[in-house]
Amino acid sequence: MRIIRDIHEMQAASRAARVQGAAIGFVPTMGALHEGHLSLVRLARAEVNLVVVSIFVNPLQFGPAEDFNQYPRTLEADCARLEKEGVEIVFAPSTAEMYPAGATTVVHVEGLSDKLDGRSRPGHFRGVSTVVAKLFHIVQPDYAVFGQKDAAQVAVLRRMVRDLNMDLELIVAPIAREADGLALSSRNVYLTADERRQALVLHRALLAVEAAANAGVSCAEKLRATALAVLASEPAAKLDYFEIVDPDTLDPVEDITQGALAAVAASFGSTRLIDNLLLARK
Ligand code: PAJ
Repeated sequence: MRIIRDIHEMQAASRAARVQGAAIGFVPTMGALHEGHLSLVRLARAEVNLVVVSIFVNPLQFGPAEDFNQYPRTLEADCARLEKEGVEIVFAPSTAEMYPAGATTVVHVEGLSDKLDGRSRPGHFRGVSTVVAKLFHIVQPDYAVFGQKDAAQVAVLRRMVRDLNMDLELIVAPIAREADGLALSSRNVYLTADERRQALVLHRALLAVEAAANAGVSCAEKLRATALAVLASEPAAKLDYFEIVDPDTLDPVEDITQGALAAVAASFGSTRLIDNLLLARK
């Protein structure tokens, strides 16, 4: 497995692979890898013969009061896990390599970037779309794999790829969870034992919505009330949002007959977690 830190070297490796007819699969990450990330790697592997994983904690997508400095950085352990998965290239640039002094160009997906997490985290999705556009130019993938765990991120990036005619296909992987339902996240390491137990309420709320939807409830406001009642049963959860929206536009829907995304964000102590559930078209 090659570890590349230099942008030109990464571009040259991709160019050489493409000349030889290789299809490139790409999994962008911020490291602190867990089984969720590895499930993305396996999906990429199924499509292609060259898998590139990037590890870059992107300062542009963290707000001033957010956890950029504490964010777990475990490059050595990450590389060991990726090597076991048979990944060919890890791209792990420095911040100075990605954002040299004077870099002022951004990619901003207007409208979508202000919804859900974008509303609570101003500038977050602009940071995500900018770094992912840069990474796409550097890695030049045929396929790029993202997790459904970050449903709003998927909507923003799908729109970016469409609007800017990027020549690649996005693949979305299902949410990987712990046995008790907690969605895997690099931020779960921040949780105390108590907070980890409290955080299970997110999945319980989503399961209650799923059960109600399966029982025939299609009114979004009723489904939302069901979720809010479950969330209220865990007073330690500081709710940011629970919304039922169109998965492409992220706008609230009135009913779920055309399919919908139920998305939740809440803090436990100082750790903000998100989770979601796709409700199938009826
Ligand atoms: P990061 O949080 O490291 O996540 C990298 C990828 O793993 C994302 O596509 C995310 O949705 C996916 N992922 C995380 N937890 C998952 C889970 N439990 N199940 C399935 N997939 C999961 O998302 C980012 O990094 C950054 O915003 C990035 C796209 C790398 C841009 O900086």
